[in-house]
Amino acid sequence: MRETPISDELLAWYDAHARVMPWRVGPQDRAAGQRPDPYAVWLSEVMLQQTTVAAVRDYFRAFLAKWPTVRDLAAAEDADVMAAWAGLGYYARARNLLKCARVVAETHGGVFPDTYDGLIALPGIGPYTASAIAAIAFERPETVVDGNVERVMARLFDVDTPLPAAKRELTGLAAGLTPLQRPGDYAQAVMDLGATICTPKSPACGICPALRHCRARAAGRADDLPRKTPKAAKPVRRGFVYVARRGDGAWLLERRPDKGLLGGMLGFPSSDWSDAPAEAPPLDAEWQAPGLEVRHTFTHFHLLLELRTTLVSAATKPDRGGFVPHIEFRPADLPTLMRKAYDLASGAFAEN
Ligand code: ADE
Repeated sequence: MRETPISDELLAWYDAHARVMPWRVGPQDRAAGQRPDPYAVWLSEVMLQQTTVAAVRDYFRAFLAKWPTVRDLAAAEDADVMAAWAGLGYYARARNLLKCARVVAETHGGVFPDTYDGLIALPGIGPYTASAIAAIAFERPETVVDGNVERVMARLFDVDTPLPAAKRELTGLAAGLTPLQRPGDYAQAVMDLGATICTPKSPACGICPALRHCRARAAGRADDLPRKTPKAAKPVRRGFVYVARRGDGAWLLERRPDKGLLGGMLGFPSSDWSDAPAEAPPLDAEWQAPGLEVRHTFTHFHLLLELRTTLVSAATKPDRGGFVPHIEFRPADLPTLMRKAYDLASGAFAEN
């Protein structure tokens, strides 16, 4: 790894234009030697995978307010953490987050390891997160590569190979630019550049600090890079979702198994999700079919769940799940798919 003018220019640009984020240390505090809290860096990087900065901000603040240190998080109830994560998606990440917090608290004395190798040995920390924490929290010259960084590299070096085949090549190019000084700021500078200037569509090349180094721009094809191998169309799966309310206002909810989609999350009982789902109501009742469908897209498929609703008496015992009293029921604790079911069902109940 060697220092190059590109990294100098990106660092100067970052000093002037870094996005303000609640887990970052501002330029003045940075100049005064303040380092970001590794716990905050870890939490933000886990949250930011596959999610935007805008979506993460409030969740990050809520987590830090509830659990200010990794030891606090390690001591939290699983259900509270899953509820606080609800809406961010990728729920296996939340379960791994807790596992990781507990390992750091129990076997590392509440202190995050300060090297890539130490970090990657923790549960739920892959190459991206280990590099990001090592660079941002500990100033290790690790190369951090996310989608933004891949795009910036493909353009700077005019890489024609399509993604995902180009990943190794782009990672190598990114490693070649990573400076020994301020690698964490540099990594975040490239990510910010990708998010704000070197955007997927209509990049703002006119104000880019790396303009004179950019080979794709010189060749007039920055807009066309990175090339991507087309993805297969997502299949559609179907199913039924059952929203039961008791006369006293309680809602029937069921915690999903830890393994699988929405693992460990609370939601309304549903059937299997497949090409030809079988009805699987969680209690014997007169189920209504209001003709409404919950639509949700997961990473690998679109899901269409037909809504079923019923109002039952206070004595009703479900075959699975449990009734949650109205005052304890917080729709915000549900994953987005179940939140959509709740919104549709509330409308359907209101009409009757
Ligand atoms: N995306 C993921 N992590 C980021 C960070 N630290 N700064 C900017 N964008 C990011």
